[in-house]
Amino acid sequence: MADNTIFTDVKVAVIGGSGLYALEGLQVLGEVNPLTPWGHPSDKIVISQTPHGTKVAFLARHGRGHYLNPSEVPARANIAALKHLGVEVILAFSAVGSLREEIAPRDFVIPSQVIDRTKGIRPSTFFEKGVVAHAMFADPFDTSLAALIADVAKTACPGVKFHENKTLVCMEGPQFSTRAESHMYRSWGCDIINMSVLPESKLAREAEIAYQMVCMSTDYDCWREGEEAVNVEAVIANLGQNSANAKNLLSQLIQRVEVALEQKSLKTVNELKGSMKFSGITDPA
Ligand code: ADE
Repeated sequence: MADNTIFTDVKVAVIGGSGLYALEGLQVLGEVNPLTPWGHPSDKIVISQTPHGTKVAFLARHGRGHYLNPSEVPARANIAALKHLGVEVILAFSAVGSLREEIAPRDFVIPSQVIDRTKGIRPSTFFEKGVVAHAMFADPFDTSLAALIADVAKTACPGVKFHENKTLVCMEGPQFSTRAESHMYRSWGCDIINMSVLPESKLAREAEIAYQMVCMSTDYDCWREGEEAVNVEAVIANLGQNSANAKNLLSQLIQRVEVALEQKSLKTVNELKGSMKFSGITDPA
């Protein structure tokens, strides 16, 4: 189908991180590359359809050739483009380092909290230049989606260990942490580390899109005694298996999300709609 097809009502989106550059087993309907007020998204957005007819948007966060470093990802354009397609739910995937013994490489983690260690150089709001709003972000992820993912994982990924309710620290990168930093994050109660959850999750919240990240552990960062510090080789070694597991999860998850949206059974997803109405503080007078 031609690239200029207009797609609407694509309610579910998947953002793929390192290692997850495409969805499989779905019928591709077309690709879009919208120009938003914040530029183009990271790559063309692929619109596919499940065997049940559910439309899903796929966006590779770093581009399909992995040419954007975490600080360069055009997060505002990405979220704005997905919003324009009608997206109500984002299932985001990311490789992470583990800061806990019990979270082994190739385990999956569904985080519930975030600590921001980016350096303030990533534009992280749609509200600026005369329009001020303060979105609620105490719970940065969507608890309804987190529960649904955990439930689907039991049948879709029986061999993968899932950890729930963990704290994710987001660092700027692109260099990995020092050992002192890695120990500090552990002392703060952080369980996993990546470079990608922010500002993506903040912008999704401002856009009233329910957002849950699924984290795929690739390494033990550099806090562990006797373990070689994380390097790209170690990360890449686990990306292939993680990506295969993510695809298995998605093969059942997308349809479950669509059904839950139709039945309006995702409580927090429902509550998010219209929430920004009360977040603007600029006096329109
Ligand atoms: N992504 C994967 N492993 C990571 C690590 N150790 N630190 C930051 N981001 C990561």
